[in-house]
Amino acid sequence: MKDQVIIFDTTLRDGEQALSASLTVKEKLQIAYALERLGVDVIEAGFPISSPGDFESVQTIAKHIKHSRICALSRAVAKDIDVAAESLKVAEAFRIHTFISTSTVHVQDKLRRSYDDVIEMGVAAVKRARKYTDDVEFSCEDAGRTPIDNLCRMVEAAIDAGANTINIPDTVGYTLPSEFGGIISQLFDRVPNIDKAVISVHCHDDLGMSVANSMAAIQAGARQVEGTINGLGERAGNCALEEIAMIIKTRQSLLGVHTNIKHDEIHRTSKMVSQLCNMPIQANKAIVGGNAFSHSSGIHQDGMLKNKNTYEIMTPTSIGLKNQALNLTSRSGRAAVKSHMDTLGYTEHDYDLDKLYADFLKLADRKGQVFDYDLEALMHFANLRDED
Ligand code: KIV
Ligand code: ZN
Repeated sequence: MKDQVIIFDTTLRDGEQALSASLTVKEKLQIAYALERLGVDVIEAGFPISSPGDFESVQTIAKHIKHSRICALSRAVAKDIDVAAESLKVAEAFRIHTFISTSTVHVQDKLRRSYDDVIEMGVAAVKRARKYTDDVEFSCEDAGRTPIDNLCRMVEAAIDAGANTINIPDTVGYTLPSEFGGIISQLFDRVPNIDKAVISVHCHDDLGMSVANSMAAIQAGARQVEGTINGLGERAGNCALEEIAMIIKTRQSLLGVHTNIKHDEIHRTSKMVSQLCNMPIQANKAIVGGNAFSHSSGIHQDGMLKNKNTYEIMTPTSIGLKNQALNLTSRSGRAAVKSHMDTLGYTEHDYDLDKLYADFLKLADRKGQVFDYDLEALMHFANLRDED
C-alpha cells in the first residue's frame, strides 16, 4: 500500500466547473463508467449542495459504479455535509470530502475569520462527516500559500478529528516543484500524527507546473494525486492524470511506486472526455495529443525504423492507441515512404523508390501531410508515365 499512489479523479467536479455548458446526468454517468474501466481509485462525482442536478448526478453515479470509491465535495458547513451524505448513501461505501481555506488571504478576506475559528470549523466538519462514513477527506484550500506553521496545526487537528485523507491543494497553481515537495516533507517532519492519514495533493496548472508539483509531492511521500482527464479544470486546469499515470509507469524503477490505472484505457477515456465536454486537446499535449506519438522529421523517422528506442520512451499501444504510423510530410525521408509502401503491400518491383520519393516531395511541399492513398496514386501515375 505504501508503494501505491491512489488516483483521485475530479473531472466530474473540478473539471466540470470549467465547462460553459454542464454535462447531463447521463453524460456524467458515461464518463464515470469510463473512469471505473480506467482503474481510477476514487471518483469525485460532484458537489451535491451546489444544485439539484449535481445532487442527482452524484446519486446516480454512486448507485451504478461499483469498483471505484465515489466521493462528493462539501464545504466545512453542516448542511453541505448532510446533503453530500444523502446523495451518496445508495453506495455500499463512500467518501465525503470537506474543505476550508487556510491561506492568510483567504482566511482574512474571504472567510473573514480568525485562524482559530477556521481550525474549529474544519474539525467540526470532519467530525460531522465521520458520522456518515469512516472515509473522510479534508482539504486545506490554498495550502500552497498557507504559512507552514498554520498548515501543520490544521492538518494535525483534522487527523485528530478523524480525517483519514489530508489533501494539500495548490489551488492557484503558484508553487514551484521544489517548494511544493518541501511543504509535503515538512508536514511529514512536523505533524506528529501524520502517519494516520494518506497525504494527497491537488495541483492547478496556472503556471504550467501542476504535474511537476504533483510528482515532487509523490517523491516527498504523498500517496494520493488528484486531477482530471486531459487536465480539464478551472482557469488553466488541473493536474492531468494521464500524465501522472504514464510518468509513474515509464519511470517506475526510479520512483518505486505504482498506480491501479489500466494504461491501455487512457486513449479512449481521454477522447470520450474531450468529446463529451467539447474541449479539444492541443496536438502537442503530452500523452494524449494528436502528435504525441507521431514522428515527423526525417532523422527521427529513420531512427524509429531502425530501433524504436531511439525516439520512443513509451509505445502508443501502451495507452491503447492503435496503428500510429509515421506522418508523411516534406521532412520525411525515403525510409519512411518505403515503410508505408511495405505496409500497403508493395515491393520495389511495383515502383521505383527514387522516382516515387521525388514525386512525394513535390506533393508534400504543396499539400503538407501525404496520406497512403496519395502514395498509391503517385505510384500509379509514375507507372503510367513510364508506359507512355
Ligand atoms: O483547488 C482546490 O483547492 C479545490 C479544493 C476544493 C480541493 O478544488
Ligand atoms: Zn481544485
